[in-house]
Amino acid sequence: MKALVLSGGSGTRLRPITHTSAKQLVPVGNKPVLFHGLEAIAAAGVRETGIVVGGTRAEIEAAVGDGSRFGLDVTYLWQPEPKGLAHAVKIARDYLGDDDFLMYLGDNIVADGVTTLVERFRVERPAARIMLARVPDPRQFGVAELSADGRVVALQEKPREPRSDLAVIGVYLFNSVIHKAVAEITPSARGELEITDAIQWLVDHGLRVASTITTGFWKDTGNVPDLLAVNRVVLQQLAPATDGVVLGSELVGRVVVEPGALVTGSRVVGPAIIGPGAVVTESAIGPFTSIAADCRITDSWIEDSIVLPRASITGVRRIESSLIGQDVVVTPTPDPPRGHRLVLGDHCKVEISS
Ligand code: G1P
Repeated sequence: MKALVLSGGSGTRLRPITHTSAKQLVPVGNKPVLFHGLEAIAAAGVRETGIVVGGTRAEIEAAVGDGSRFGLDVTYLWQPEPKGLAHAVKIARDYLGDDDFLMYLGDNIVADGVTTLVERFRVERPAARIMLARVPDPRQFGVAELSADGRVVALQEKPREPRSDLAVIGVYLFNSVIHKAVAEITPSARGELEITDAIQWLVDHGLRVASTITTGFWKDTGNVPDLLAVNRVVLQQLAPATDGVVLGSELVGRVVVEPGALVTGSRVVGPAIIGPGAVVTESAIGPFTSIAADCRITDSWIEDSIVLPRASITGVRRIESSLIGQDVVVTPTPDPPRGHRLVLGDHCKVEISS
């Protein structure tokens, strides 16, 4: 079995962060979303992994390399335009050959991993096995209808009137019949080759499509609230560790201070992580906060947030539910305060309480 990881797309809903970074590389708990997926693939015993990349190819390659660090053997597959998940399968046709494969959307996080799903597929060998989750608003997902014995009988892509509350989530298992399906379908109304249409083709041709409904935590990290939700869950799973230097500070609960970090005169309430080389001074951090490498946090209060590498925050009380980009500088206005002085890049979103 091989893995096919989809890591293209432009991440418009995460702008401006995605102007300078691939959406799959935004860190949660100081680790890129994509790495969580790669670790889940390796844990399921799959080694050969094709990563489909688009405009952010260089960054993904720089971050993942040959995959050996994850125990994977990675091949990059170039998708010039994001023309749908089934289009990515088409691109990967030669790489995949006639092998079974695990398709994983690189911006999805599945807390329970994929091992059980892979094992079941290996034993039962259906044409496909997909993962489903009950969601409050299925209209933004692929939606599955099941028979009484759990077979998928119909699929709709982002339907206006969903026929169930079962969303198709970003983990799929296929045998080589899917290539036939992908070759037969035509682009949807949004101009993409939809994997839901390819799976529907399997159903229509009498092939068995099995499903697993996950009750564990799952999210597509496409927008900031979802990314913060994933950050909260990932932080709760970290083992507390103090490898950096902590002076005159209080660490409460599940706190990770990574090597080379310096925390002085501060209170850090877990779950929270302070990245390597970060300096936190006279501040209150957490809960649910990831401070990345080489940040400078001084005289500030931050909770439920993700702060990316080298950001500097001074004298701000308080920051909450925020995603702060690399090299961002936040400071108070000089005395006497007259107004907010902002230098914001394109697509920034700022909410000021004053
Ligand atoms: C894609 C699929 C959709 C699936 C979703 C899961 O949607 O087309 O069927 O439910 O991923 O994240 P996208 O959000 O990429 O348009």
